Amino acid sequence: MYEVAIRTPLRKNGWAFAGFLLILLTAASLLAQDWFAPRGAFMHVGALIGTIMVGNVLLGIMPAQRELVKAIAEGREPDPAPALLAKLRSTHNNYLTLPVLFIMISNHYPQIYGHPHSSLWLMAIGATAAFARHFFNLRHRGIVRPSILVVAALLLIGIAIAMMPQHSEEQGEAALTDATALTLFQARCASCHSAQPTDPLFSAAPAGLFLETLPQIDAAGAMRLHSVVQSGYMPLANRSGMQDVERQQMLEWLAGRAREPLSE
Ligand code: HEC
Repeated sequence: MYEVAIRTPLRKNGWAFAGFLLILLTAASLLAQDWFAPRGAFMHVGALIGTIMVGNVLLGIMPAQRELVKAIAEGREPDPAPALLAKLRSTHNNYLTLPVLFIMISNHYPQIYGHPHSSLWLMAIGATAAFARHFFNLRHRGIVRPSILVVAALLLIGIAIAMMPQHSEEQGEAALTDATALTLFQARCASCHSAQPTDPLFSAAPAGLFLETLPQIDAAGAMRLHSVVQSGYMPLANRSGMQDVERQQMLEWLAGRAREPLSE
């Protein structure tokens, strides 16, 4: 679809083309979220963008260079059209690099890929990164505009704040007491995260993390636990058979715990 679009007059309007690409990638990201585990979904969007970039080189940039070399060898004036289109393709590739870099490292951020609106955040972060790239492009032309980086940094901070887990004000009846929460951790996490794991795959607590007592749970950090439980990364491969309701209850308890730790 990208390859078709760049051969139409749409390419002449930068903003319209950017909007088209954003819609295309959002749709791809939503499908990826639907089809794959959250941990792998961003990667598929990254692979798609990477394919577009490789396509730009193979189908536009390299042929234009060959045409140029050929024209010079034959001693004739080169046709400017392929060169202009190649320049546009390389500009697109240039703006896509930072979003792709973010996707490459996104596996370290379960709070982003595991968020219920992860596609929205992926697009917001990708667009901000592409905007930040503009600073470097201007600088290559001798224009230094630090305001771009400041705005990009503020946007990222805004995204981080908007993504924080929402705490519901009313403590519903479903909310766990500390004691029942602890039982849940012992049942679903301590089979691995304990001094003597009962899971046959582990002879020591993975990641050096013990989740058998409330102080240990607080030491691990409610926010950190929240993000791995929310993303579905933990319990690992759900080997301890955690139910959806239990996951929801644990998340609610952890969100409360993040606000008032050590409240025993
Ligand atoms: C089947 C074994 C197993 C179970 C059950 C399990 N974990 Fe883990 N956990 C692991 C392994 C293995 C790692 C190390 C993986 C890694 O470093 O990416 C780990 C790492 C972690 C980490 C550190 C990862 C990070 O990125 O900070 C946290 C936090 C965590 N587990 C929380 C939990 C919680 C909470 C539960 C229960 C809901 C749980 N785990 C259940 C095996 C397990």
